[in-house]
Amino acid sequence: MSAAKINVENLSLWYGAAQGLKDVSVEVEEHTITAIIGPSGCGKSSFLRTLNRMNDHVPGARVTGRVLLDGEDIYARGQDPARLRKRVGMVFQRPNPFPMTIYQNIAYGPRVHGERSEARLREIVEQSLRRAALWDEVRDKLQKSAFELSGGQQQRLCIARALAIEPEVLLMDEPASALDPVATAKIEELTDALKENYTLIVVTHNMQQAGRISDHTAFFLSGELIEFGPTRDIFTRPRDPRTEDYVTGRFG
Ligand SMILES: Nc1ncnc2c1ncn2[C@@H]1O[C@H](COP(=O)(O)OP(=O)(O)O)[C@@H](O)[C@H]1O
Ligand SMILES: [Mg+2]
Repeated sequence: MSAAKINVENLSLWYGAAQGLKDVSVEVEEHTITAIIGPSGCGKSSFLRTLNRMNDHVPGARVTGRVLLDGEDIYARGQDPARLRKRVGMVFQRPNPFPMTIYQNIAYGPRVHGERSEARLREIVEQSLRRAALWDEVRDKLQKSAFELSGGQQQRLCIARALAIEPEVLLMDEPASALDPVATAKIEELTDALKENYTLIVVTHNMQQAGRISDHTAFFLSGELIEFGPTRDIFTRPRDPRTEDYVTGRFG
């Protein structure tokens, strides 16, 4: 019996005639952190976007193979991408708060999904900000613009916003690459705490970071998944010489 939260089977992705992902198969266990590493342009972001069908919005993009979430094919006919994206949230490289107050940023998603009770929304806002390790820093300024926060705080706000709609999986595309070392450390601590309640898949170009935060690591090269395994193995005894060359810094 497999306890896979996400099961990717022979996934290929085309942008028009150009192939972005080549026959990728991988299993992601629940309540783990998977790091996605590989040189620029190898398909890390493309792969992440296939997991919540963000590629649906890219003209000419086409997917073959299957992505199973709890055993259900997210690309099957009749699947609702909006419902999928509620279950599989995403955080991007650059913090992108909405031009609203801190409170509104978090309450927005639950409202869109039908929550009308202001009392319940207040609870959701507090809980989400607590889970994103931001509550203590913003509890006294919830009505201030989100743009008054530092970059690191804005990124945690975006994580809180993603958590507010109660996802099961959180995709993060280089979530700390625009942040200073202190803010980066906070994000890394946070990912570790989040794994108790969520399944995380995190793209990073920082290999030390992958080593610190992840249980499993996937190494991509030119759209191919070269190697996937326990993070320790990928970094200390990779099976593929291309993985070894990359993790030892010979290219990338
Ligand atoms: N929207 C798009 N349209 C066409 N080609 C794309 C698009 N997004 C990415 N690509 C191409 O797919 C390949 C992988 O890109 P990407 O997934 O962004 O890599 P990474 O995140 O690893 O840097 C690159 O060759 C890139 O040019
Ligand atoms: Mg990318």
